[in-house]
Amino acid sequence: ETSPVTVTVTGAAGQIGYALLFRIASGAMLGPHTPVRLKLLEIPAAVRAAEGTALELSDCAFGLLHSVDVTDSPASAFDGTDVALLVGARPRGAGMERSDLLEANAGIFGPQGRAINDHAADDVRVLVVGNPANTNALIAAANATDVPRERFTAMTRLDHNRAVAQLAIKLGCPVTDIDGVTIWGNHSASQYPDLTHATAGGEPVPALVDEAWIESEFIPRVARRGAEIIDARGASSAASAASAAIDHIRDWIDGTPEGWTSAAVVSDGSYGVPEGLVSSFPVRSVDGAWEIVQGLALPEFSRERIDASVAELIAERDAVRGLGLLG
Ligand code: NAI
Repeated sequence: ETSPVTVTVTGAAGQIGYALLFRIASGAMLGPHTPVRLKLLEIPAAVRAAEGTALELSDCAFGLLHSVDVTDSPASAFDGTDVALLVGARPRGAGMERSDLLEANAGIFGPQGRAINDHAADDVRVLVVGNPANTNALIAAANATDVPRERFTAMTRLDHNRAVAQLAIKLGCPVTDIDGVTIWGNHSASQYPDLTHATAGGEPVPALVDEAWIESEFIPRVARRGAEIIDARGASSAASAASAAIDHIRDWIDGTPEGWTSAAVVSDGSYGVPEGLVSSFPVRSVDGAWEIVQGLALPEFSRERIDASVAELIAERDAVRGLGLLG
């Protein structure tokens, strides 16, 4: 047995939190030999509900679960954190402008970034799930000036998994046959799910499906899957989002099995995405760090779609910068 890993989950009383915590405690994220210390951060009004979840975690008698702390204090929630899953966020309320949403979330992710800076473990890994995830990650990173920026990521793994699943359904093959799918840009409807370099059982996907299906069915289906889930379930995706968060952290720590996956990471300027933006790329995890897969050819259609999503990320960045929220 290795020494315990401290995992902080914010928004722990929310629906993703409820789907996430039990899987982390069971070993799905860090493996069957790594004990876990859970720290749950909530707003004061939801602390009692998070404590209820902590009671249930106790009732599972998970062998790997060393402790569960519930708090409304970011300083204590991020004390010694190795893995921070920032799930809690301010949803868009009725009549809320996009700038109001960005500002309300900056009021959450700025202080959390500072608390991570001051209290987390030196090698902390941060995954932002709460929306607008990419820009919330940018804000948290900007407020954690002592933490290397590559430690901050945002989740597009759910979009990636949705894309892989849709393609596998279309081709009638197992998801494990699929490789080389990429989500580019923002975790929003502007994202670009890219099949240009995808393969199924080693065969190039563009030779197996027609362009019309990709453009008029596949891309909108993946980009609007969140709305489809809300429509069917009467609530937004929760278990699938939690599962994607687990995939992201597991791959980050253990390495991507083969091929690549998608994650929103701080851009180093690759593929013309402005340096410093948190944008989704094709990534591999090597020795515990994400690397952007280099050298992929981008046909005109891909270039336009990536540029459109990146333009949205630039607008979000400029809006929070204009509000003085980038630290
Ligand atoms: P939810 O509303 O069920 O739970 C959110 C929880 O966060 C609530 O319990 C709330 O009290 C808490 N919270 C709010 N502000 C907080 C703060 N400052 N500190 C700690 N906790 C705080 O929402 P749900 O369904 O769990 O979703 C959470 C977020 O994840 C949303 O922003 C949602 O849009 C986003 N999401 C992102 C996905 C992605 O692919 N990146 C996929 C699905 C959801």
